[in-house]
Amino acid sequence: MQPSNTLLQRLANARLVLVFTGAGVSAESGIATFRSPDGLWAKFSPQELANVDAFLRNPQLVWEWYQARRQAITEAEPNAGHVAIAKLQELIPKVVVITQNIDGLHHRAGSGDVIELHGSALRNFCIRCRRRYDDPKFLTLQEVQQCQCGGFIRPDVVWFGEMLPTEAVERSWRLAAEANVLFSVGTSSQVWPAAELPFVALEHGAYVVEINTETTPLTAQAHEHLPFPSGNVLPEVVRMLRRVKGEE
Ligand code: APR
Repeated sequence: MQPSNTLLQRLANARLVLVFTGAGVSAESGIATFRSPDGLWAKFSPQELANVDAFLRNPQLVWEWYQARRQAITEAEPNAGHVAIAKLQELIPKVVVITQNIDGLHHRAGSGDVIELHGSALRNFCIRCRRRYDDPKFLTLQEVQQCQCGGFIRPDVVWFGEMLPTEAVERSWRLAAEANVLFSVGTSSQVWPAAELPFVALEHGAYVVEINTETTPLTAQAHEHLPFPSGNVLPEVVRMLRRVKGEE
């Protein structure tokens, strides 16, 4: 697969590039996506696991489910797609990753500016007093823990029905309006408000490229749809951009 000349020129002249990612960018690291036929929501019910009422109804069940996901996350390694996204920073003045993922793999791959719209599975807080519990030991304890105030300790992830972190939203929407290029990578573009970001970028003149093995509600409006695994496409984009910038 060959990135288009238009994309390469846009990237070579870009001041700000956004990389908006979803579960698909971590699929090649062995982490399950949500809506594919064998995805997490095919096996588990988000209503029973990924919301506050479910947690309050059965904190131990929800805590154990997240411990199993954290186990998968800590055993996973960033893949070539994560690494290529991190390498874009060497070629473009400003690259910001805006991710829906909670796995922390963009940080581990070396991306320096990552906005976690849906929080992080590597952090915890008390559901009652909101005291933070980020000690790594909480990533492996199998029993749900209680805070000194008596509240249960929960993962620092955005559950269905919850608001996204205000600062993350404000910065993301502002950046989307300023971006020269936005990559939408490995997201089904179905979960709002995050899914609005590429459309905000489009409205403000950004060149929007979707990297997804399938089509999504964004595909028809994106400038380009590259229907290949992100772990293949992104390293090729970096390689060709290096050549265009004479850095290869
Ligand atoms: N390369 C590129 N795209 C891929 C790859 C890959 N290797 N593997 C899968 N995909 C695509 C799938 O085609 C799909 O469109 O990644 C997308 C994953 O979509 P979802 O499973 O819906 O995940 P995501 O879009 O991140 O979900 C958004 O929904 O459940 C909530 O909070 C959760 O953050 C999540 C949000």
